[in-house]
Amino acid sequence: MNETPAHYTRTAIALHWVLALMIFIAFPVGLYMVDLRLSPEKLQLYSWHKWAGIAILVLALIRLLWRATHRPPALPASMKRIEQIAAHAAHHLLYVLMIAVPLVGWMMSSAKGFPVVWFGLVPLPDLVSKNKELGDLLGEVHELLAWGMALIVIAHAAAAIKHHFLARDGILARMLPFLK
Ligand code: HEM
Ligand code: HEM
Repeated sequence: MNETPAHYTRTAIALHWVLALMIFIAFPVGLYMVDLRLSPEKLQLYSWHKWAGIAILVLALIRLLWRATHRPPALPASMKRIEQIAAHAAHHLLYVLMIAVPLVGWMMSSAKGFPVVWFGLVPLPDLVSKNKELGDLLGEVHELLAWGMALIVIAHAAAAIKHHFLARDGILARMLPFLK
């Protein structure tokens, strides 16, 4: 953890894309399922959303541990100071939200009195006791944080694409090595 490496590790790259894919699925499923009328389909989607969300939480914790023990490569010196600050801020916020969004989702489920049985097999403990007002509030927070994450992801992906086509500094290829 002394020298700044030239590359992301394969593990960091794999975790980045697996998590991105899972978040890209969990988000629209969340939006779609809340507007359905009460039906077996709605309950099934709620279960899948919660299972995927807990899997995201577990992978995000592993990713955070990996990140804490493996330095990322430095940003190119050609980037302005303000761009470097923005990139680092976005990355930090994304790490926080990868944990906070599913954690608040889990707390909300507990508060609303719907315990999480992960993949229908592993009963998870309730994080807070049943309380309707708290459940509704945590639902609002879950929605707000998820939208906040979506906005940062859009800016983050747009920046990566701009780096690839305009700055041509190889940043996108660090996360997508087949582009090299
Ligand atoms: C990164 C992971 C997650 C993302 C991106 C995500 C995203 C979303 C979104 C966009 C909604 C719709 C919000 C609305 O329009 O009201 C939603 C709803 C919901 N999410 Fe998540 N979620 C995640 C993880 C979780 C987890 C881990 C749980 C619980 C274990 C959970 C439980 C719920 C529930 C119960 C709702 C419906 C709330 C309601 O009926 O008002 N979510 N989620
Ligand atoms: C839910 C979706 C996504 C999340 C949560 C996410 C999160 C992150 C985080 C936290 C980092 C920082 C890694 C580190 O240095 O520790 C990162 C790096 C990166 N991401 Fe994403 N990302 C997502 C989607 C995308 C997409 C769609 C693209 C491309 C279009 C992309 C391109 C990149 C690139 C190129 C880097 C490396 C930046 C560098 O070399 O400094 N990401 N991502």
